Amino acid sequence: MTEFTASYKMEPKIKIFKDLEELTGYLMSRIQRQMLNKSSGQYYSIALSGGSTPKAIFKIIIEKYRTKIDWSRIAFFWGDERCVAPSDSESNYHMTYQNLFRHLNLQELNFCRINGEDEPEGEAIRYAERVDFMLPHFNGIPQFDLIILGLGEDGHTASIFPENISLFYSDKLFETSQHPVTGQKRITATGKLINNAKEVCFLATGISKAEKVAQILEKSDDWDTLPASLVNPAQGKLVWLLDKAAGAELLM
Ligand code: 6PG
Repeated sequence: MTEFTASYKMEPKIKIFKDLEELTGYLMSRIQRQMLNKSSGQYYSIALSGGSTPKAIFKIIIEKYRTKIDWSRIAFFWGDERCVAPSDSESNYHMTYQNLFRHLNLQELNFCRINGEDEPEGEAIRYAERVDFMLPHFNGIPQFDLIILGLGEDGHTASIFPENISLFYSDKLFETSQHPVTGQKRITATGKLINNAKEVCFLATGISKAEKVAQILEKSDDWDTLPASLVNPAQGKLVWLLDKAAGAELLM
């Protein structure tokens, strides 16, 4: 594992792992440590991302960490969701249920899904109200213990794309969005919620992410046109967990 700090406003912790197993092990130990700080009866809140990276990590969690965590003490949410039914293969909830929850016998009370099947504008409002009700607040804004984010090859994160980067600055907690290529409607957390978290952890693997990782972390050419570069928790920690391929273009 390689650790170094990039020249970044919030000095994110950047860790490069030899493979996904090592990355997952570090992520789980980080979560285990942070859960110790929660008093009994207090949930540890996590907002999940979608995509293939979490899916691969869930498989390792089920193989190696299923019994290492008291999953009943975690409240799962999502940072974004595709506006499809929960049974749709495109659904982030569906991917999470199939690859993680069903293996943990997680109860309904341990997760709060975004109803992708409902009318997007109304659901963005409903979900924001649920998150606002269920989480403690910091600066008058609901505060997650951990928000997990992925990085798209175009520099998007959650469902905020370069084409609609202004959503990051919304005064709402969740907004409706649209995939710029497929037109797929999405619901996404905004910067107001993301940058209020106690910790935000990017998970990026594979050579296809290397260029954007370097552009964002080294703040090179137009880095601030990428939504992922706007993630900068005001009081919280910013962590980038990379495999060697995704970190390949970082200047050591
Ligand atoms: C989504 C995600 C999205 C994802 C990135 C990276 O709903 O698709 O939240 O932001 O994290 O696109 O996806 P991969 O892990 O598949 O590269």
